[in-house]
Amino acid sequence: MQIHETIESFRTARAGCGQLAFVPTMGNLHDGHIALVHRAAASAETVAASIFVNRLQFGAGEDFDRYPRTFEGDCAKLRAAGVAHLFAPDESVMYPQPQTYHVDPAPGHVNDLEGAARAGHFRGVATVVLKLFSIVRPDLAMFGKKDYQQLLMISAMVRQFALPIRIVPCETVRAPDGLALSSRNGYLSAPERAEAPRLQRVLAQIARAVRSGERRFATLETQALEALRQAGWAPDYVSVRDAQTLSPPGAGSHRLVVLGAARLGHTRLLDNIEI
Ligand code: PAF
Repeated sequence: MQIHETIESFRTARAGCGQLAFVPTMGNLHDGHIALVHRAAASAETVAASIFVNRLQFGAGEDFDRYPRTFEGDCAKLRAAGVAHLFAPDESVMYPQPQTYHVDPAPGHVNDLEGAARAGHFRGVATVVLKLFSIVRPDLAMFGKKDYQQLLMISAMVRQFALPIRIVPCETVRAPDGLALSSRNGYLSAPERAEAPRLQRVLAQIARAVRSGERRFATLETQALEALRQAGWAPDYVSVRDAQTLSPPGAGSHRLVVLGAARLGHTRLLDNIEI
């Protein structure tokens, strides 16, 4: 695996890559990321990944400073999984001047769910992903469904800017007890880790009820929020939405998804289940 710390180095290597599948990451890699790499390897001639902890997508008081930097271990995992090129810039390469041009995602994303809970988050994600796409010039890019709204937001950005990139949605990878794998799970204490699968369980309960014909979404959501609060969580939202638009379910909704985000101690977890 070649490690590129500069844009020029990556661009030179890109010329010889042929069809390229790309896995953007912030490092601290787990099996969910490695599943994205395997999917990339099955989909294209060459796999590239990036590791860059993007300051722009973290709000004031969020975990940018304590976000785990585990570069050596990450490289070993990416190498073993078949990544040929790793783009690993530092901030002086990605943001040599303060980034004054940004991508503003649609208000529907910015003002709802994760966007509403984390002011500026999607603007930071869209800006860095567009920049990474412009550097890496992938044919395909893999995004996990665990960050469901991020996946839809990036897909919409690619469509709206007519970028010649196919966004490939990849299934969430879960621990045996159902907890969605996340770089932030490492923040959980042992008792919190034992409690953490509850988020997935309350979402699964809603998914089951909706599959059996229940349509009182607000009641289901309120019950789920209450169950989380009683177990000591501070939920941001639990919401049933149209799986394609993330609007509230309507007559035209063919598929639904239930999404939730909640804080357990100092750790914010999010998950979703397609219905
Ligand atoms: O999902 C992530 O890890 C990040 O949001 C991404 C897409 C790498 C952009 O920094």
